[in-house]
Amino acid sequence: MEKVMEKVVALCKRRGFVFPSSEIYGGINACWDYGPLGVRLKNNVKRLWFRSMTQLRDDIEGLDAAILMAPRVWEASGHVENFTDPMVDCKECKARFRADELSADPTDPKTPCPRCGNRGTLTAPRLFNLMFKTFMGPVEEDSSVVYLRPETAQGIYVNFENVRVTSRNKIPFGIAQIGKAFRNEITPGNFIFRTREFEQMEMQYFVKPGTDEEWFEHWRKERMRWYVEDLGLRPEKLRFHSHGENELAHYARAAFDIEYEFPFGWKELEGIHNRTDFDLKRHQEYSGKKLEYYDDETKERYVPFIIETSAGCDRTLLTVLVDAYREEVVEGETRVVLALHPNLAPIHAGIFPLVKRDGMPDVARRIVEDLRRDLHVFYDEAGSIGKRYRRMDEAGTPFCVTVDSETLKNESVTVRHRDSLEQERIAIRDLRGWLRERITPV
Ligand code: GAP
Repeated sequence: MEKVMEKVVALCKRRGFVFPSSEIYGGINACWDYGPLGVRLKNNVKRLWFRSMTQLRDDIEGLDAAILMAPRVWEASGHVENFTDPMVDCKECKARFRADELSADPTDPKTPCPRCGNRGTLTAPRLFNLMFKTFMGPVEEDSSVVYLRPETAQGIYVNFENVRVTSRNKIPFGIAQIGKAFRNEITPGNFIFRTREFEQMEMQYFVKPGTDEEWFEHWRKERMRWYVEDLGLRPEKLRFHSHGENELAHYARAAFDIEYEFPFGWKELEGIHNRTDFDLKRHQEYSGKKLEYYDDETKERYVPFIIETSAGCDRTLLTVLVDAYREEVVEGETRVVLALHPNLAPIHAGIFPLVKRDGMPDVARRIVEDLRRDLHVFYDEAGSIGKRYRRMDEAGTPFCVTVDSETLKNESVTVRHRDSLEQERIAIRDLRGWLRERITPV
């Protein structure tokens, strides 16, 4: 199973989905760059999420808050005090571990280092804050420390009043945001699964106290539906994991993770949390500004409870890639296919002239010009038709359109289906409608 990860990582490099960051300098640990196909796929995932949150419902507004925030925000949120992992070092091989991921007590001299196997070489756990610090302004002193946000959620809480007043929403309503987050993870890894710079897609839904359990249930079901129906993931690869008492974050009353079965095991994809009124009360206390809601129908005043849905964008992308990866033997040859949902695919259709003569390239180029206003199409005339098909299979392109000698006689093209390998003839004048019936670009 681990082999699948290696293959997905290799495919990402080969086809231009994901590259190691600063590769020509030897790379930088746990940072990755999205290439031409990766950026399209990532944008499609983000658009699909933002659309489902803000366009298909009228109770959620969008936001794009700054990454750098007033340092008091992180005191109020509890991150300065609590956003720590216990870290253990091996004095022998210098490897570093999260103490909570070790199977035995690191202070016991009999516990071996998981990397080098030596005993009695592990340090006692030390708490390590995961927030990246930098300085604002020209002087590097304690008073100018600011943090790179470790989650996007706090930008939403501090804008609760701004959004509520300007959008004139009544409770219940939500705020959705996509943006970068940074964590100085002790043990990043598994490609883009756990990185130090990543993107989150977070939605905070503000509700009346007492209705929180009902809304928690609503969002738990809705988020699972999104992964299966909108993203097209295999349902048997998804499950819920309910947090027990000792797993709950300091702010949470209830929490479920949506987990996916990655080649390296079942892991969290998204967290759904009932955060109670913890966040708004803390920001009220630390900022001195009232964050209460007055319901003018019931004449009640209260601090709203928050139901949070928090997904990682890079992790979702990895899930989409792993879920779509297939190897099939066709006529004695192995073909690698990314069976992506057609709406998500970075390229919707490959357009090829069968040969570079008899006017076929001109017809193919005309088709490209006609389709590109609605769809992502890709013109390719290099190499045998078989090679061009294979390249598109690896890019996850659902359809390939070939201009051939019959096109010159009757204005029709061959359309090849990525998954079934079926081929059919379609009149050029019907092609756009045919593709649009099968693809809704996001
Ligand atoms: N606001 C709540 C929050 O941030 P979290 O469980 O720490 O909760 C939410 O993070 C999601 O963000 C995770 O389910 C995961 O998808 C993503 N995530 C967290 N840390 C990550 C990392 N180091 N690299 C990539 N994705 C990460």
